[in-house]
Amino acid sequence: MLNEKIAKLINVQVNKELYSGYLYLDFANYYADEGLDGFAHWYEVQAQEERDHAMMMRRYLIDNGIRVTFDAIAKPDKKPAKISDPLDFGYEHEQLVTSLINHIYAEAYAINDFKTMQFLDWFIKEQGEEEKNAEDMIKKFKLFGHDAKGLYALNQELLARVYTPSTTGPAM
Ligand code: FEO
Repeated sequence: MLNEKIAKLINVQVNKELYSGYLYLDFANYYADEGLDGFAHWYEVQAQEERDHAMMMRRYLIDNGIRVTFDAIAKPDKKPAKISDPLDFGYEHEQLVTSLINHIYAEAYAINDFKTMQFLDWFIKEQGEEEKNAEDMIKKFKLFGHDAKGLYALNQELLARVYTPSTTGPAM
């Protein structure tokens, strides 16, 4: 059985991950409306990954005897006004998620919950990748996004992103 506080933090994080997916789908809606199908696709794939993260945490709780509970998912609160905005918002959001995961890890560490620390190792690594991907998007947009040809090429590149289901192995 998991420590009650740890279980609660992970249950809250399930909601945060679902919110992340909701936020990224909202970015995809924005880009679809702007006619940038590659950018929209990239965030649709991102949203699928966020759902995977939520499901991995839900499964970890269930496998450890915890009754998972769901709260309402908040309305996406970012309002993109220009094409680069979702990229900046996305990077900020991933930094926030990293801090949330780090907090759960620190709480698990404080009570010698090695099982949860091992489970969270995947997420610690994943957050490094999520932040790097978000930063790379900003860099690429700065380099190529400001003329029509460059934006077209970048949109085509993002259209090629392939969804690969996330997995933590035994905990799934
Ligand atoms: Fe689930 Fe984008 O972190």
